[in-house]
Amino acid sequence: MSDIKHPSSTGETSTGQRGNGVTRRDFLNEVTLGALGIAGLGAAVVTYQYFSPNVLFEPSTTFRAGSPDLYPVHSVSFLQDQQVYIVRMPEGFYAVSAVCTHLGCVTQWKPDAEIIACPCHGSKFKQDGTKIEGPAPRPLPHFAISLTADGELLVDKLQAVKAAQVLKV
Ligand code: FES
Repeated sequence: MSDIKHPSSTGETSTGQRGNGVTRRDFLNEVTLGALGIAGLGAAVVTYQYFSPNVLFEPSTTFRAGSPDLYPVHSVSFLQDQQVYIVRMPEGFYAVSAVCTHLGCVTQWKPDAEIIACPCHGSKFKQDGTKIEGPAPRPLPHFAISLTADGELLVDKLQAVKAAQVLKV
């Protein structure tokens, strides 16, 4: 009488042990623990996201435009990151939105023609934002412009002002 165990066709012995020493029960336990671990991690991530504040951080609407000396008299300077024109005329400074009042395209200053032109549908504006032609329903708005305590230009894009309001420096 011998105690020789014959492996089954799946490589298991009659006791359920595989040839490499791992039982089916051990294997299933490890797979189950792995699946539970992944599910627990997913639940932790979802719970963390649920309790995290859902806040949208937008760029500030107030920005510094640098020293007034950066802008020569009779100049129109386009600040691309703010989409604003800083205009300096002999009477003072004003800040004009570069966003077209038709459908919101960003306009371009054309120094040769001394106009602000919209590339989308052809609206044209004077350098002070007054509409010349095109489908834009309104002139380009002016934003409040002031000086900081240390002498830099400060523009507030949330505060629209009348076109006649200029900053004398
Ligand atoms: S968006 Fe400027 S003319 Fe249409």
